[in-house]
Amino acid sequence: DKGPYPYYMLKEIDEQPNVMRKLASLYTEESGKTNIDSNLINSLKQADRIYIVGAGTSYHAGLVGKKLFEKLAHVPTEVHIASEFAYENPLLSKKPFFIFLSQSGETADSREVLVNVNANDYESLTITNVENSTLFREATYTMLLHAGPEISVASTKAYTAQIAVEAILAKALGEAKEQVIAEEFDIRQQLGFVATGMQAIIDDKDEIEQLAKKYFVHANRAFYIGRGIDQTVSLEAALKLKEISYVQAEGFASGELKHGTIALIENGTPVIGIITQKRTANLTRSNLQETMSRGAATFTIVRKGLAQDDDTLIIPDVDELITPLLSVVPAQLIAYFTSLNKGLDVDRPRNLAKSVTVE
Ligand code: F6R
Repeated sequence: DKGPYPYYMLKEIDEQPNVMRKLASLYTEESGKTNIDSNLINSLKQADRIYIVGAGTSYHAGLVGKKLFEKLAHVPTEVHIASEFAYENPLLSKKPFFIFLSQSGETADSREVLVNVNANDYESLTITNVENSTLFREATYTMLLHAGPEISVASTKAYTAQIAVEAILAKALGEAKEQVIAEEFDIRQQLGFVATGMQAIIDDKDEIEQLAKKYFVHANRAFYIGRGIDQTVSLEAALKLKEISYVQAEGFASGELKHGTIALIENGTPVIGIITQKRTANLTRSNLQETMSRGAATFTIVRKGLAQDDDTLIIPDVDELITPLLSVVPAQLIAYFTSLNKGLDVDRPRNLAKSVTVE
């Protein structure tokens, strides 16, 4: 039931703060300690490499997961598109551990990989929103996203829930491996900050609606750019925009743009800089400037601590490792309002299915 919402997508965007609180209370204790199956942590501890497998938005959540597992737990992590992995048979390490990310738990491409993983007796974890789904049943371990049903075809709360679960898991693994950075990372408190921050962004949605009108309704092409973790969010931001508003959007490593793609910038092409990482903030700013001097209509999504006078959307500060939980929210809303302003069916974009059960 959509309740007072015109579309499920808006309802699901709005539910994100509560999902964050719920995950914090289910997977961490008041002391800040994580609360995760110890057998799962022991298995992960023995792995020399983590392989994350997913499709679409879940793949993008995996790209954030790589940063989390490498930084907090110091385990080399690869992220693979399920449909590629299934037939490329990438070279594996001696002790691989597989993490499947899937909102529905039914994506055929991911399942194809899991069947092979099981045939080779490797251990796996499925992180999914749907209990008893195929990927849930067939993996060694499972963790639920507890996001409630996601009806809109464009995935929103599943992305942020996947990242939150990955962050909790990476902290738990890092602690088990006595990594100081993991011990000092208070994920419970951080998820509280995230929930409050998400709510603040959502409460400001009128401003985002205005931006969507001004920049995107007449655009046929747009770019989100960023570096590092912001680059991974740029991919998800672009996917949201293209799938429901049909604006051709690309997410890009901001430094890579000038190596060819900048040729696509015309007068008025929207280019949005995502800036949440101190180390690379100024670099992305100058890349944005490069597009502006070629006519792009630029604006920024910036973490408060890095904000300057002429920034556009300022999102609250949280630990730099989990900024995607906040920076993606304006992008979800931009996609929503662009689709709405164009009079499209936000929840049911053309040519798409919620769960892709063919390879
Ligand atoms: C994008 C979207 C798709 C799914 C993808 C994987 O908004 O919804 O890209 O993320 O089809 O689906 P799951 O997560 O169910 O495996």
